[in-house]
Amino acid sequence: MAKFKLNGVEREVDAPPEMPLLWVIRDVLKLTGTKFGCGMALCGACTVHLNGQATRSCILPVGAVEGQQVRTIEGLAKGEALHPCQRAWNELSVPQCGYCQPGQLMQASSLLAQNPAPTDDDITASMSGNICRCGTYPRIRAAIHRAAEMAKDEQVDLKAAITSEPLK
Ligand code: FES
Ligand code: FES
Repeated sequence: MAKFKLNGVEREVDAPPEMPLLWVIRDVLKLTGTKFGCGMALCGACTVHLNGQATRSCILPVGAVEGQQVRTIEGLAKGEALHPCQRAWNELSVPQCGYCQPGQLMQASSLLAQNPAPTDDDITASMSGNICRCGTYPRIRAAIHRAAEMAKDEQVDLKAAITSEPLK
């Protein structure tokens, strides 16, 4: 049994503590936005936020998130209000096949929460563990800069955007 907050809602799951959080999210809780890629923390497809930090859920035992806050791509928007990254991703038509994109968005939104005006080098350092087989890297980089610009213009608190409760 494990108890944690998922996208702002307390969840209690009947799963062994060693089960990877990714399996719990997808197979037990049926939230399939978070993807399986490598299962070895090498691709970033399974990225979620743990207490606001980008984390690979494929290697994280659910027992380790007891009492903590987990956010998945389903909880990134606040109701109808998309996160600036989601809006920038749409504006620049970032996804190709789309498979890696939930992980890319969770990694990028975590980066912006820590660094609201990242340089190209900052983006490379933060995003290099998120693999895109379709090669959307230039659009991802441009979209992160665009999201930073939007947030600055609209005075969006990018830290609060991923740590406050999503609307139900
Ligand atoms: S599935 Fe977790 S990093 Fe690849
Ligand atoms: S958009 Fe296809 S793997 Fe990234």
